[in-house]
Amino acid sequence: MKITLIGTGYVGLVTGACFAEVGHHVLCVDNDREKISTLKSGRIPIYEPGLEDLVKNNVAAGRLAFSDSTQHGVEHGDVIFIAVPTPPQADGSVDLTYIEAVAREIAQCLRPGQYRVIVDKSTVPVKTGEKVAETIKRYCSKGCEFDVVSNPEFLREGCAVADLMQPDRIVIGSRSQRATDIMKAIYEPFHAPIYTTDINSAELIKHAANSFLALKISYINAIAAICEAAGANVDEVADGMGADKRIGRAFLNAGLGYGGSCFPKDIKAFIHISEELGVPFNLLKEVEKINSGQLDRFLQKIKNKLWVLKNKTLGVLGLAFKCDTDDVRCSVSIELCQRLLNEGALLRVTDPRALAKARAVLGEVNVTYCENPADVFEKVEAVILATEWKQFRNLPWRDLKDKMIAPIVFDGRNLLDYKSLRDMGYDYIGVGRP
Ligand code: UDX
Repeated sequence: MKITLIGTGYVGLVTGACFAEVGHHVLCVDNDREKISTLKSGRIPIYEPGLEDLVKNNVAAGRLAFSDSTQHGVEHGDVIFIAVPTPPQADGSVDLTYIEAVAREIAQCLRPGQYRVIVDKSTVPVKTGEKVAETIKRYCSKGCEFDVVSNPEFLREGCAVADLMQPDRIVIGSRSQRATDIMKAIYEPFHAPIYTTDINSAELIKHAANSFLALKISYINAIAAICEAAGANVDEVADGMGADKRIGRAFLNAGLGYGGSCFPKDIKAFIHISEELGVPFNLLKEVEKINSGQLDRFLQKIKNKLWVLKNKTLGVLGLAFKCDTDDVRCSVSIELCQRLLNEGALLRVTDPRALAKARAVLGEVNVTYCENPADVFEKVEAVILATEWKQFRNLPWRDLKDKMIAPIVFDGRNLLDYKSLRDMGYDYIGVGRP
C-alpha cells in the first residue's frame, strides 16, 4: 500500500521504516528540512537498535523515501499517518498546535475524488479525532472524501523496531468500515491481534495503558520504601507478586522512577483530561507524587552517607532516561546530576550512547564526560548508577574499587549484584534492598 507518515520523530520514523520492511511504499514527511536532508543522506538522527539498517535497506529497495512537502505526502499516500509531537503545556494539558496545523495542511492538499484515510498516531486527548475530522472538513475543498482513524502506537524506545514488528496488539479506532478495512490490510503482514473500536475508545486506550504502566512502577517504588523500613527485599517481593499471572512481573522494577518523553507527559495529560471531563483521576496524582519522591529519597540517602556534597567528586553511570537509547528527555539521571551540581558536587559521568545529548543539557561546568566507564571511578567519593544499561553490571568492579577514594555505590536501578559487590568490599546502597 502507499503510505505517508507526517512527522519523523521516534514514532514516525520507526513506523515508516517498519511499514516499508513489510512491503508498503512509504514516504516520510517532515517540515524540518535539515532532518529530511540528514535522512536523505543516509544518516539517522536518533539511536534506536536496528533502525539504521532497516532504513538503509528499505531506501535501497525503493520502498522508503523522504520529503519536506506535505503536498507531496498527500499525493503519495492513500493513508496518511500524523505522528507529530504533542508536548505538554504548563498546566499539564496537551499542546495540540502541531496536530491542528498538520490537519489544516492536509485539508488544503486534498483533491476531490481522491479518498484518503487520515490516521492519528500521536498520543492525544480523547476526542482529538473528532476535532481533526472537523478541522479537515472545514479547510478542504468541496467534494473531498476522507475518514479519520485513531491508531495509537505502543512502541518503547530502545526496542521500538521489535515492538513494531511483533506488536502485542493493534488498536484501530474508526467509524468507517472502508477505513477500517484499509487499516487492517496495512497491518495484515504483522500477524497481530487487531482491536477495532470507536475513535474515542482508541484514544483512551493509549492514555489508560501508559497510566497503568506508570502506576505499576510507582506501586513497586512505594513497596520498595516499605521494604527499606521493614528490612525486606523488593526484588523478592516483586518476583513473588509478579509470578501471579493476573499481576505479571513486567514493570515492577523499583528504582529512581519513570522518566522519558512519554510517561511523565502522558500521566499529567490524563490527569488534566479527567478533570476536564469532570471525573478527576486522583489516583494518578499519587502515582506522580511517588515518582517524584523517588529521586528525593535517593538524594537523601546519598547525603546521609556522604554528608556535605560541596566539592566532592561523584561518578555517575548512565544519563539516558533508560537503557538502549540516546534520549535524555525527562531523564531522571539528568535531573539527579543537576541536583548534585546544585549542591556543589563535581561529576564524572558516562553513558554508552547519550553523552553528546547529555552534554548539551548539563554543560561543561563541574562535569567531566568519560567515554570509558572505568574513567568515572577515578578518585571519586562514590559511584551512582542511574540508568539500567546492562553493560554496567559487567564492569571490572573488583579492579575499579582501587581507583576510588571510598568504595561506595548507590544503585538507583537495582541493576548490580549487591552480594558480590559487598564481598568485594563495596558499601552498596540500592532501592528497597537490604
Ligand atoms: C513508554 C511505554 O512503555 C510505551 O508503550 C509507550 O508507547 C511510550 O511510553 P518508553 O517511554 O519508551 O515507553 O519506555 P519504557 O520502557 O516504558 O520506560 C519508561 C520509564 O520507566 C523509564 O524511565 C524506565 O527506566 C522506567 N521503568 C520501567 C522503571 O522504572 N521500572 C520498570 O519496571 C519499567
